[in-house]
Amino acid sequence: MAFFPSWVCVLVGSFSASLAGISNLSDIEPPLWKESPGQLGDYRVENSMYIINPWVYLERMGMYKIILNQTARYFAKFAPENEQNILWGLPLQYGWQYRTGRLADPTRRTNCGYESGDHMCISVDSWWADLNYFLSSLPFLAAVDSGIMGISSDQVRLLPPPKNERKFCYDVSSCRSSFPETMNKWNAFYQYLQSPFSKFDDLLKYLWAAHTSTLADNIKSFEDRYDYYSKAEAHFERNWVLAVDHLAAVLFPTTLIISYKFQKGMPPRILLNTDVAPFISDFTAFQNVVLVLLNMLGNVDKSIGYLCTEKSNVYRGHSESSSGSYGNNS
Ligand SMILES: *[C@@H]1O[C@H](CO)[C@@H](O)[C@H](O)[C@H]1NC(C)=O
Ligand SMILES: *[C@@H]1O[C@H](CO)[C@@H](O)[C@H](O)[C@H]1NC(C)=O
Repeated sequence: MAFFPSWVCVLVGSFSASLAGISNLSDIEPPLWKESPGQLGDYRVENSMYIINPWVYLERMGMYKIILNQTARYFAKFAPENEQNILWGLPLQYGWQYRTGRLADPTRRTNCGYESGDHMCISVDSWWADLNYFLSSLPFLAAVDSGIMGISSDQVRLLPPPKNERKFCYDVSSCRSSFPETMNKWNAFYQYLQSPFSKFDDLLKYLWAAHTSTLADNIKSFEDRYDYYSKAEAHFERNWVLAVDHLAAVLFPTTLIISYKFQKGMPPRILLNTDVAPFISDFTAFQNVVLVLLNMLGNVDKSIGYLCTEKSNVYRGHSESSSGSYGNNS
């Protein structure tokens, strides 16, 4: 059906890189960004290896913070303050998962991730946390592997969760052997990034190719998690995966300001079975509309052949022309 993608275009086209309403970029950073490790030396070292526990909110966020820091120089030509770094989408999405309770134990058998318990804990039973594991560890390890971090590939190890150890990989070599194609795609992104001739649109192509490949490798492993959620939330999770394919197809530019604005449309808490969009009273109109669109997406044929080439070109043209300033229209 041609009809859904056109809505994606409308939605995507409604964002701009304008700073309207944002007085300071540090106000739109993800939760606890400042408190997160910003360099490898902030982590524990054992036998000259950096040890990272990605099942603790700050330590996982630190991987993003380090990637953003180490790649900043390659995005400086597009805008100041690392604003056009397209890796911002990942930590912002992860921060949204944290803020909305999605990293907590959905079975409630433990207090992992709850305010009243261990609120920095990331639950291995959380569907969101499991997929985000690969969307943080693989880009991080590939950055190490591609030499951007200035350390050798065997100098970082991630710690396993308390159970289901075999579902994950923990260092460059094991992630390479479990997910060779995906790791190659992340590496290709970093290789291209280091080219002095890198173009914004092409960077997005490499990034989205790696992102969708990461999800495709891992979605099946965590299907059992859907049962831990309300039907409404599980439905949203499945639709979200489809939505990501659409965002990838239009090369949605996951820069800081645009990711932030997009996120305002995401559900601000875990969905309940009594939630019926567009009538969820504690959601904004934007959040209700996004949920309606996602539900429609789940119901239509997943054909993303054509897509709004013209609109997205206009849109991307904008993001390039705004380099040097944050754009001036909204
Ligand atoms: C933005 O906020 C940060 C921390 O809140 C502060 O250190 C910085 O000076 C602010 N920048 C501007 C331009 O207001
Ligand atoms: C990267 O991190 C270093 C050390 O923490 C800091 O001095 C520098 O300003 C950071 N650069 C960017 C672009 O964030």
